[in-house]
Amino acid sequence: MRLWHPAFPAPGQTPPRANPPSHGDTVLKYARIIGTGSALPEKVLTNADLEKIVDTSDEWIRTRTGITERHIAADGETTGDLAFLAAQRALEAAGVKASEIDLIVLGTTTPDIIFPSTACLVQHRLGANGCAAFDVNAACSGFVYALGVANAFMRSGQSKKALVIGAETLTRMVDWTERETCVLFGDGAGAVVLEASDEPGIFTTRMRADGGFKHLLFNPVGVSAGFTDEPNHGVRINMLGREVFKVAVKTLDSLVGETLEDAGMKEEEIDWLIPHQANLRIIEATAKRLNMSMDRVIVTVDKHANTSSGSVPLALDYAVRSGKVQRGQNLLLEAFGGGFTWASALLRY
Ligand code: ACO
Repeated sequence: MRLWHPAFPAPGQTPPRANPPSHGDTVLKYARIIGTGSALPEKVLTNADLEKIVDTSDEWIRTRTGITERHIAADGETTGDLAFLAAQRALEAAGVKASEIDLIVLGTTTPDIIFPSTACLVQHRLGANGCAAFDVNAACSGFVYALGVANAFMRSGQSKKALVIGAETLTRMVDWTERETCVLFGDGAGAVVLEASDEPGIFTTRMRADGGFKHLLFNPVGVSAGFTDEPNHGVRINMLGREVFKVAVKTLDSLVGETLEDAGMKEEEIDWLIPHQANLRIIEATAKRLNMSMDRVIVTVDKHANTSSGSVPLALDYAVRSGKVQRGQNLLLEAFGGGFTWASALLRY
């Protein structure tokens, strides 16, 4: 028999909260996902294609990472283009007009231009002008951070309908001569529409960071620090993969524990784990920590590789559209990335 925590009723039951969350006289609502969408560039780069560029093999990439192919943005195709498409599809799925949106939060570390923010560019293309719109840079945790921020806006009554997007063209930062990193990344975007609702909803979100790990994963140049004469003006991902791997596994282990504790839930109450898609071995370690078999874990890393902020919402949209994730199920979203940053969201879909 399934055990449900009293605060989190089974699908169809009325939430039995004796004390609904309140803020002064305002009864706080849940932020509920009412639509998802995603977008991938047309061009696919397979492991076999990469074998022709660097000294690597399909076998090495698949066994070390789980990746078989990735999508690569075409020349001139931007993060904003992918974000716009993903947002349009999420709005369509939600049956919501862009003009109804009062908040856009977009996670990215590869904005189209320095300013305006990609959120503002997408807002204008959607025709949602006037609402709050801003980017969040938390590297690969960008979407889950953005979701946490939007959730806080909704819980405080400042937003009724929000668009949360994770979008990247991370391959623009890739050094195609460096086999250690170029095989790992891809481009893509995902989005969700959130609505303030009496029905659960996001139960809890966590956002954490430790800037002391900068040396393990960083992109060394920028407007203020300056660019260099190196190829691509010095824009490239620097990563000590093995070290990142170790910290990621350990950190995600404690993150999922903290999240469950915060929500007062048990491992067996989670229907689906929707993790950041960086490496299948990291995903398997988190699933093991949760005592979850891999058939309850959404895996898209094989087809998308690591799309940074795009990864979790791409996986979520795939899970929804393929019919795996059903209304009323409990989902645990988690991510880990440069910063280091790490974040989670536990929600009822
Ligand atoms: N093809 C063939 N051989 C390779 C390749 C390649 N593409 N890349 C590295 N190798 C070699 C190395 O040179 C090394 O050779 P050596 O033993 O002769 O020295 C060997 O393979 C093993 O290298 P490791 O780095 O130890 O391999 P590991 O098993 O750790 O896998 C990987 C590397 C896949 C990068 C892994 O460490 C990983 O996934 N790390 C985490 C990445 C991550 O999660 N990043 C976070 C998000 S990114 C962001 O926020 C932007």
